[in-house]
Amino acid sequence: MAETKPKYYLTTPIYYTNGLPHIGHAYSTIVCDAVRRYKRMLGYDVVLTTGTDEHGVNVERAALKAGVPESEFVAQMAATWRETWDALGTPGDEFIRTTDLKHAHTVQWLFRLCRDNGYVYKGNYTGQYCVHDNAYVADAKPGDNCPDCGRPTETVTEENYFFKLSAFEKPLLDLYAKHPEFIQPESRRNEVVSFVAGGLRDLSITRTSIRWGIPVPGEEPHVFYVWFDALTAYLSAVGGPEYERQGYWPADVHVVGKDIIRFHAIYWPAFLMAAGLPLPKQIWAHGWMLMDASKMSKSRGNAVKPRPIVNVLGNDALRYFLLREVIFGQDGNFSYDALVTRYNGDLANGLGNLASRTLTMIEKYCGGKIPNPADGEGQLDRDIKQHAELVAEDNARTPGVPWSFNNFHFSRGLETIWTLVSAVDAYLTSTQPWVLAEDETKRARLDAVLFTAAEALRIVTVLAHPVIPAATEKIWRQLGQNGSLGAQRIDALQWGQLKPGTRIGKPEAVFPRVEKSETIERMEAMEKEASEPAKAPASAAAGAAGGATPAAQPANNKIAIEDFMKVEMRVGQVHTAERVQGADKLLKVNVDVGGEVRQIVAGIAQHYKPEDLVGRKVIVVVNLQPRKLRGVESNGMIVAASVGPEGRPVLAGFLEEVEVGARLK
Ligand code: MSP
Repeated sequence: MAETKPKYYLTTPIYYTNGLPHIGHAYSTIVCDAVRRYKRMLGYDVVLTTGTDEHGVNVERAALKAGVPESEFVAQMAATWRETWDALGTPGDEFIRTTDLKHAHTVQWLFRLCRDNGYVYKGNYTGQYCVHDNAYVADAKPGDNCPDCGRPTETVTEENYFFKLSAFEKPLLDLYAKHPEFIQPESRRNEVVSFVAGGLRDLSITRTSIRWGIPVPGEEPHVFYVWFDALTAYLSAVGGPEYERQGYWPADVHVVGKDIIRFHAIYWPAFLMAAGLPLPKQIWAHGWMLMDASKMSKSRGNAVKPRPIVNVLGNDALRYFLLREVIFGQDGNFSYDALVTRYNGDLANGLGNLASRTLTMIEKYCGGKIPNPADGEGQLDRDIKQHAELVAEDNARTPGVPWSFNNFHFSRGLETIWTLVSAVDAYLTSTQPWVLAEDETKRARLDAVLFTAAEALRIVTVLAHPVIPAATEKIWRQLGQNGSLGAQRIDALQWGQLKPGTRIGKPEAVFPRVEKSETIERMEAMEKEASEPAKAPASAAAGAAGGATPAAQPANNKIAIEDFMKVEMRVGQVHTAERVQGADKLLKVNVDVGGEVRQIVAGIAQHYKPEDLVGRKVIVVVNLQPRKLRGVESNGMIVAASVGPEGRPVLAGFLEEVEVGARLK
C-alpha cells in the first residue's frame, strides 16, 4: 500500500492587483517556496497557495483610470503576477483569484455560517476610511490622515453588516495564551496581544458604497469588505465548503508581512471561530524589504523588480540573498551592491568554487569516479565528517540546519551550511590533494581526501536545495547522483551515503564570478527599461505608470491621444553635468525645465562628455516618478534615440530656437 504522507499547507499573502510584484512581495513567495521544498524533503504532501486580491475601491479606481472594465483589468494583472512567480520558479500549487467563482461561494458560505451562529447584525456606520488600506480608521476625525500609510482618510456613512468582533476578545486572548506559537515572531505576538487586550470593536464587513466586490447573498447592493473576502481565499483554494474532503485545512502557516499581521491574527481566527471552523496553526510575520532605509513600495517609487535580478544573476542568487541577508521576522535592506557581494562571496567563491575544485580533482586524479576512502582516513577527515553530521542533525544545540529551517531561521541555517563549505575549502587547502596526486604511495590518502570533500559537498547540496534549487540540482548531477534531488529525504541524510565507484558528471561552473559594477549596471538598466512606459512590456509598464493597465491598450498597439498627453515633455537646458562615481554609463545632469532645475541621472556617459552638455537644450520627460540610480536621485528623463544594436544614445534636440520650459505636444 502506498505510504500516506502527512499534509502541510502554507500560504503567501493574496497580492493586490492594483500593483505589480517587487522584491518585497517576492520575498514572501520565495520564503514559502523554500519552506515547501524543505517540507517535501521531509516527506510531507505540501500545498502552497498564492494568488491575487482583486476586489475593492483601489482596483475599481485603477480600472476606471485605465478605461477598462474591472474584470479585464484584474485578469491582466493576475496574469502578470502568475507569470512572475512562474519565472521565479515559485508558482503556487494553487493560484487563487478572489474573482474565482469558487471563492465567491466560499465567502458567501462563511458569511452564512457566521450569521447563522449569531455573529452578524445590520447597522449604520459613519467613520473615516482609508481607501488605500481598505480599512476604517478608529478614532479618526474628518481631515485626519491614516496612521498607517499617512494618506488622507475619507468620511463614509453606510448601512453595513457588522461582525461581532468584540465577542472574540477573550477567545482570542485564550488562543494566544494556549498557543504561543500561533503568532510569530514574539514581538508581533506581544503587539497583537496588547491590541486585543485593549478592547475590540465590532467590524463592518459589507459595503454598499462600492460595486466591485462579491455580493452578499440576497442583500445586494451589499458587497463584502475586502478583508472578509481576501482572507477567505486561503480556504477557498483548498476546497472551501468541501475543505474536509481535500484535507489541507487548517493551514499550517500563513506567511505575511508585518503590516498585515492584525488582519491575520485577529480578524481571521475570529471569523473562523464564529463560523465554527478550524483555525490555522500559525501566522508568521516577516519584516519589510527596505530600500535606502524606507519600505520598498510602488507608491514611494523605490520598488525593485525581481525580473532584472534573476535575468542577470539567476533565481538562486535572489533566493539566497533574501534568505541569507535578512533575518526572518526583521526588516532587511536591499542594495544591488550587497546582492552582488553575497553572490560573488558565498555562491561563486564559496559553494561554486568548492564544487568545481572537488569535482575537477576527482575527474583528473580518480578517473572521474568517486574514490573509495577505505584505507586512508585521517583525523582531518573525521573532523569534516563530524562537522557535516552536526550541520545535518535536527538539534537546537549546534544548531543543525533542520532545526533552523523548522523554526524559520533561514539565515542561520544557511550560515551553518556555509560553515561546512568553508571548512571543506580549508581542508582541501591543508591536505593538498594536488600534491598527494604526485606521489603513488599517497594514493589511499588522496582517495580519502577527495571522498571526504565530495561527501561533504553532497550533504551541503541536499541541505541547501530548498533555498538554491537550481544550482544544487546541477551539483547533484555532477556528483553522479540519480533521481531528483528534491525527492531526497533530509531526515534520512547521513554521512557515507555517497557510493565509491560512482561515475561523476561533467564538472561545470554553477555560479560564475561576475564583475560587480558591470553587473549592477546591467540590472539597473533592465530595471530602468522595464519602468519606461514606452519600452516596457505592456504589463510591466502598467505598474511603473502608477496603475494604468495594459488592458487599456487596444490590440493594434495604438494609444489614444489622452494617453500620449499623460506624458509631459518639456524643453530643458543643461546647467551642470558630472559623472556618477562608480558607474561608467551614468551622468548626473542638472536641467532647467522652465522655472525649475531638475536633477536627472542619464545613461549617456559613454557617448557624451559632461562639459559638452552644459548649455545644450534637451527634451525632458518631467512627470516620471523620481527614482534612484546607483543611489543618486533622478527626477525625470532626457529623451534620446537608441541607435544600433548596442542602443547608442543620441540626444533629441531642435533645429530652431526654442524657449526653455515649452511643452512638447
Ligand atoms: N491583499 C493584501 C493581503 C491579503 S492576504 C489575505 C495585501 N496585499 S499587498 O500586495 O499589498 O501585500 C502583500 C504582501 O506583500 C504583504 O504581506 C506585505 O507585507 C508584503 N510587502 C509589500 N511590500 C513589502 C516590502 N517592501 N517588504 C516585504 N514585504 C512587503 O496586503
